[in-house]
Amino acid sequence: MAFKKSDVPGEDIRLAMEMTAKRRKLIDETPATPLVYEYGVNRLAKALHPGFVKAVIADKTPSSADCVKISLKPAKGEEFPYFRAGQFVTLSCKAGDSFLSRPYSIISSPKEALAGKLEIMVQRKGIFSTFITDEAPVGTELWMGEPSGDFHHDSIRDRKHILAIAGGSGVTPFLSMMKAIREGSEDFRLTLIYGARTRAHIPFDPEGFKSEGVDTVIVLSDEEADGYRHGFITADLLKECIDDDTSVFMCGPDAMYRFVRGELQKLGFDQTLIRSERNSVGDREVDEIRVFKLIVHIRDAVYELDAPNNETLITALERAGIPAVVRCRNGSCGFCHSRVVSGEYFVDAVNDFRRSADKKFGYIHPCSTYAESDMEIDIPIMDL
Ligand code: FES
Repeated sequence: MAFKKSDVPGEDIRLAMEMTAKRRKLIDETPATPLVYEYGVNRLAKALHPGFVKAVIADKTPSSADCVKISLKPAKGEEFPYFRAGQFVTLSCKAGDSFLSRPYSIISSPKEALAGKLEIMVQRKGIFSTFITDEAPVGTELWMGEPSGDFHHDSIRDRKHILAIAGGSGVTPFLSMMKAIREGSEDFRLTLIYGARTRAHIPFDPEGFKSEGVDTVIVLSDEEADGYRHGFITADLLKECIDDDTSVFMCGPDAMYRFVRGELQKLGFDQTLIRSERNSVGDREVDEIRVFKLIVHIRDAVYELDAPNNETLITALERAGIPAVVRCRNGSCGFCHSRVVSGEYFVDAVNDFRRSADKKFGYIHPCSTYAESDMEIDIPIMDL
């Protein structure tokens, strides 16, 4: 209610004295029912950040000697959120006594996901991937975290032509980008160089992805065939594919990153224009495997479990069937941010993305941390 200043002497005081009664009357007359409308910005935030969504395995198709394409559909009453081509989702489910999670790049285009179809490509490797490729039947329900990651084209940061270099299942984010270019959701050009051992190890149909603005070059290391390059992704091949408006995106094994970076260096390519998708932190090599006691607090609940020194803490939690908050599994996103109550631990510098305050006050990312003694930690609750 606006208070209007009066020019009549003393009138201001009278109006001010009446104001309380007027406000009280308005409050009393207002019904105590909650507001029924939702702000548009809240609807948008919910659509973009739905938290966990239940997804169902709708179909599985072998796509190469060691990869399976898995189609997901939203469970009843759920919707898939929008994402940027190149992002990943984290899938989680109970498998035996364990509660497992793993991030997978989306191979669908953003429009396909909005239409209720979301596909991932899974390489038969590791406990969870083998579980969903070989054991989980069609109809299995999984928890799906919201799309995440910054491995997508950014018109401010990246050049207009992306030279995408991939090996193994690392081609997945680029399949989504190629579809997004074709359907008009993304506006850049992409040349894909894909390295595989033989034609049987190529998990996609290169011809099926060709469109305006998209080109593919397949390099086979163990086979010679018409229409395919033979050998490795060398400086000579890279030079053919680079123009004066190129950024390089890489997704694949760490050994490929090191090799290709070396080849790009030979060409004098600007290193600031190279981006590589980070891989999950796995087991580490140790002289002797030692198993420590790990006490875990999740709000009021307390668990005690074994934590071998060669596995990350998140792996130990999953093995024990404790649903732990996890997203990137490479130490970079901070979603598993947890407090160390006591104990010694190790974080490899290349996977240590903690803020300096976190390091100082004993916070860790369990997905990239290994126990070095008995430990006690306090982890966030997984809000399913
Ligand atoms: S899950 Fe991303 S930092 Fe641990």
